[in-house]
Amino acid sequence: MKTVLITGGSRGLGYALAKQALKNNMKVVAVTRNGTTLHELNNENLIVVECLYTEKNGRDKLVNALQNHKIKLDYLILNAGLLIKNKLENISENDLEKMFQVNSIAPLLLFKELTKNNCLSENYHTVTIGSMGGFQNSVKFPELLGYSASKAAIMAATQCLKEEYSDGRFNSIALGSVETEMFQTAFPQGKAQLTSEKAAQTILNLTLNFHEAGNGQIIPLSLSNP
Ligand SMILES: NC(=O)c1ccc[n+]([C@@H]2O[C@H](COP(=O)([O-])OP(=O)(O)OC[C@H]3O[C@@H](n4cnc5c(N)ncnc54)[C@H](OP(=O)(O)O)[C@@H]3O)[C@@H](O)[C@H]2O)c1
Repeated sequence: MKTVLITGGSRGLGYALAKQALKNNMKVVAVTRNGTTLHELNNENLIVVECLYTEKNGRDKLVNALQNHKIKLDYLILNAGLLIKNKLENISENDLEKMFQVNSIAPLLLFKELTKNNCLSENYHTVTIGSMGGFQNSVKFPELLGYSASKAAIMAATQCLKEEYSDGRFNSIALGSVETEMFQTAFPQGKAQLTSEKAAQTILNLTLNFHEAGNGQIIPLSLSNP
């Protein structure tokens, strides 16, 4: 049985990914700040780790849980993301930093901790969830500067990981609009092109298969922008 770790598993795309992976008979390690919705799935192949993955002690808690369960991860989907909508002139330093922390820095520190502690299986595939907002020359929007820039950072960093770690494969998904709370925050009047279930299905397929033919790629996954 293959094992996938998903960050931000309690709602939206992460929750849909967890359910889809369980349906595919995978073991799922879901990382979340609040596991209520995940526990309700009541699935023996689901391990819920409640922690703050943005903090060192949260990442340590996750590593301990993996070691206690003797789990090696085959796939990582670094999905957790934060969008705070505001113009540069109004946004606080704290909010700007928080977005970069959740969207670009914590996924890298988590990956570093997982490799250092030998938590990954041979030929693992790491998938980061970027955004069309951070994709080169895509349409840009006011008030999404911090979000889009932090997503561009994780997409570029994913390509750099390929150059530093030859034991695994690394790809990033430049995701278009998906019907979740985050999309509603960004575009209250908008209609997303994909349901979270459809997006999860496609992302899981890419996670399981794309690395056999691609490494260090940014994959646009979008029917429209936004
Ligand atoms: N929806 C879209 O249209 C769209 C478009 C492009 C890219 N994306 C990306 O897709 C991914 C999933 O987003 P979504 O649409 O499902 O958004 P969502 O419904 O807002 O869910 C975001 C997830 O990120 C986690 N998260 C938020 N703030 C966090 C924090 N401070 N610390 C740790 N985790 C935090 C949450 O995890 P908990 O389980 O801990 O609550 C939550 O499950 C994100 O990376 C997002 O940027 C979404």
